[in-house]
Amino acid sequence: MKKITIAIDGFSSTGKSTVAKQLAKKLAYVYVDSGAMYRAVTLYAMKQNFISNDYFDVENLILTLDTIKISFIYNAKLGFAEVYLNDVNVEHEIRTLQVSQLVSKVAEISEVRKKLVEQQQQMGLNKGVVMDGRDIGTVVFPNAELKLFMNASAEKRAQRRYDELTERGDIVTFEEILKNVKYRDHIDSTREDSPLIKAEDAVEFDNSNLTLEEQFEQIYKIVETKLK
Ligand code: DC
Repeated sequence: MKKITIAIDGFSSTGKSTVAKQLAKKLAYVYVDSGAMYRAVTLYAMKQNFISNDYFDVENLILTLDTIKISFIYNAKLGFAEVYLNDVNVEHEIRTLQVSQLVSKVAEISEVRKKLVEQQQQMGLNKGVVMDGRDIGTVVFPNAELKLFMNASAEKRAQRRYDELTERGDIVTFEEILKNVKYRDHIDSTREDSPLIKAEDAVEFDNSNLTLEEQFEQIYKIVETKLK
């Protein structure tokens, strides 16, 4: 069967990774979570004390970018690839609220974007890839055979993120999550380099009122038309 590239973009916590994982599993494609790469660079900057809530040493981050190695290693038990920062598994650490609060600032830096976009394009060279993020259909794979743009209300998205974090034991409030979701929406869609916008040829999905099954069914119908 023909192999294609599937680009999934959208605001934070719109369920992009859930659909991406479902599609990758069904099609036996590689799934790449590009947001995890921006999160890993942010974690690196935090560990080097280059960034905190009121401080950002952009220059030193840029100077040390070449020493940052990000890799994905498939975990058969989980059924997806986990993220490694300089050979250390950071899959859990990159999902904390603290990283979420700083990542948009790091993702604004053009040098960071350039490095990660190059790596993402390499990973997609052989097609058969599902990648989710903010600029996948517009910048990383402008020629992707299928582009999806996911959306849902900020409250729905905050609730999902809140459930996810509290289920794994993080202590957070719904209000701070909602604030973070709205803050990231704003920075991600107004930054100068590769802002989050819907590609002209992307299919838009608002899943505020769709179950996961309904959504997957609708999306898979579109995928099938692209595989012929
Ligand atoms: O998908 P996520 O919430 O894990 O992404 C984390 C942040 O990374 C998000 O706030 C914006 C940034 N990002 C980006 O700028 N471009 C991408 N392709 C993916 C994520």
